[in-house]
Amino acid sequence: MITLEHIVAARARCDEVRRADKTVALVPTMGFFHEGHLTLMRTARAAHDLVVVSLFVNPTQFGPSEDLDAYPRDPEGDAKAAAGEGVDVLFAPTVAEMYPRPGLTTVTVSEVAKGLCGISRPHHFGGVATVVTKLFSIVGPCTAYFGKKDFQQLVVVRRLVEDLNLPIEVVGVSTVRERDGLAMSSRNAYLVPDERHAATVLFRALTAAIETMSGGERDASRVRAVAADLIVAEPMANLEYVEVVRADDLAPVDQLEDGVEHVIAMAVRIGTTRLIDNATFTIAAGSVNADLPSLDPL
Ligand code: PAF
Repeated sequence: MITLEHIVAARARCDEVRRADKTVALVPTMGFFHEGHLTLMRTARAAHDLVVVSLFVNPTQFGPSEDLDAYPRDPEGDAKAAAGEGVDVLFAPTVAEMYPRPGLTTVTVSEVAKGLCGISRPHHFGGVATVVTKLFSIVGPCTAYFGKKDFQQLVVVRRLVEDLNLPIEVVGVSTVRERDGLAMSSRNAYLVPDERHAATVLFRALTAAIETMSGGERDASRVRAVAADLIVAEPMANLEYVEVVRADDLAPVDQLEDGVEHVIAMAVRIGTTRLIDNATFTIAAGSVNADLPSLDPL
């Protein structure tokens, strides 16, 4: 694995590989790798000739009162872990390399960025869309891998690729979970033991919502209420939102329709840590097919 800090060098390496009729994969990350990131790298490795992982804690996607300075970082551990997954290029630019002067050009994806996390983080998806567009421009035509845990981010990225005709194939990869169901996230590192225990409420709420639908419930507000009630009952949890929306465009729904992919998505504060989670599901012939595992007995 080579580590590159400079845009010209990363672009040149990707161009060279494509000129030899080989394929390029990009895994955009902010580092502090966990099994979720490693799964993205493995998935990319299995399907492409050159795997590029970008490691950049993007300041423009953090609000003024958010955790940019505290965001967990481990560049050396990350480099070892990426090399262990057979990554070819770790693209780790500095802030000055990515933003040599304040950008006058930004990418705004409307509608799909407005609801859910967009309500409490109004500038977040603009920052994500802009940096991801810059990464796509640096790496060039490729397949880009994103985790489904950040489902709204995945929808935003899919939409910007479609709207701007970018030569990028976007692949969403299922969320990787701890044995007790907690979705893996770099921010889990902030949780003290009591909070870590309470944080399982997100997975429990998703499971309860899916079970309610499996029992025949098709009223989205009642499904939502089942999840919300469980979260509100957890003393350490503070519910920001739980919503049931269409997976394609994140539009709210009243009744769950057969054959349409939906997502139940939530943001919950556990102490001062904001966690998100979701499950996509499709109902067909009376059964609910959800991207949510059943847990192995602990
Ligand atoms: O999901 C993340 O880690 C970031 O939002 C991303 C896609 C790398 C953009 O900074």
